[in-house]
Amino acid sequence: MDKLIIKGGRRLKGDVTVSGSKNAALPIFVATILTSGMNEIGNVPFLRDINTTIKVLESLGARVEGNGHLVRIDSSGINSHEATYDLVKTMRASVLVLGPLLARFGTARVSLPGGCAIGARPINLHLKGLQALGAEITLEHGYVEARAKRLKGARINFDISTVGGTEHLMMAAATAKGETVLENAAREPEILDLAQILIRMGARIEGAGTDTIRIQGVPELTPASYEVMPDRIEAGTFMIAAAITGGDIKIHGMKPEHLDALVFKLQDAGVEITSRDNVVRVKGPKKLRGVNIKTRPYPGFPTDMQAQFMALMCLSEGASVISENIFENRFMHVSELLRFGADITVEGNTATVKGGRKLSGAPVMATDLRASASLVLAGLAADNTTEVSRIYHLDRGYESIEKKLAGLGADIVRVQE
Ligand code: EPU
Repeated sequence: MDKLIIKGGRRLKGDVTVSGSKNAALPIFVATILTSGMNEIGNVPFLRDINTTIKVLESLGARVEGNGHLVRIDSSGINSHEATYDLVKTMRASVLVLGPLLARFGTARVSLPGGCAIGARPINLHLKGLQALGAEITLEHGYVEARAKRLKGARINFDISTVGGTEHLMMAAATAKGETVLENAAREPEILDLAQILIRMGARIEGAGTDTIRIQGVPELTPASYEVMPDRIEAGTFMIAAAITGGDIKIHGMKPEHLDALVFKLQDAGVEITSRDNVVRVKGPKKLRGVNIKTRPYPGFPTDMQAQFMALMCLSEGASVISENIFENRFMHVSELLRFGADITVEGNTATVKGGRKLSGAPVMATDLRASASLVLAGLAADNTTEVSRIYHLDRGYESIEKKLAGLGADIVRVQE
């Protein structure tokens, strides 16, 4: 297993380019199941979760060829309609194959994902939506089995905003008979990205990116070429890397409008952010101010930036109150940040960070992706050496993070444990 060794205290400067979005690429790969033929997906990030998705598609019978960041997926040979526990437990997003398999083949069997490090994460709303589209669903031996001759359009009102649920039902409804309306749909930019490739495949979708999505079912979809959007969470993580080291960096290829909530909070904390021609310059202040955040569905403050923002707040003057409202157990990084000497207390879904302390390097590890990112950020700002173990979590979602940070002047290396 690899770990990262970071010698903190360097101010980051220079240029960095954002990779394609993990959370957009995953459902886009899955959407190719709805077509029969060769799809071409560009700007794909090199990540462990992408490899897992490729394994899932190959296990179904698709042919996948990679050429750098361009991946070709030929889904004409799909002959299995089952995603096994082994694959789904490695990556929850694999459950998204259920709807597209069902829509194209009339039957699908997919393992239930179970909980994970950040919460229980049920898929009840995905299943309820598929039932509304006419699927017959049974749960047996840890698997969901779904059947339907042809799905039928329906009105679906989500109890809570769900990114995966919205994506899942948008895919399933694309070839259903008649109109589907998704109400209280999630509005994340990744949903719009998925809708755009589906539209290129011939789907008739309106309103993606708003809370009401209308889908007129078409008999079939055809293969398409598409470029994945930039990863807004990777971009946000670099913004905090600049802020936490008092650095001055330029981030290329990001879409700042996807990160408004983070940008406003960073500015409140004293970080200077300017943007021109798709390049965002981030300058960390001498002194950071403590600000409060509440995670919310998009366009609110993203839960996927909460851990990294907490690392930043450990260095600010004054206190910061951080409420996590999306996942019930997403404070796993707190106990590790305490190992750097941070002062954080947690009550329910609220963490209070008393900033202004120096962080001191320590051996740490985390149990999920964004928590691991927060430890790397703390390590960049801490005295002495930090060792971050279990970085396979980071490899799920950040392409070459140590190379990109080293390119900005960080003293960071990957070694085998
Ligand atoms: N929920 C339910 N029932 C459902 C679906 C969701 O109760 O049927 C709950 C979840 O348990 C959670 C809340 O609704 O409390 C929101 O979950 P959502 O479905 O929106 O999350 P997701 O689709 O499982 C995606 C990202 C996550 C990101 C969340 C929230 C992907 C592959 N994953 O997960 O990304 O945190 O949306 O924005 O797109 C990450 O990249 O580190 C990550 C965890």
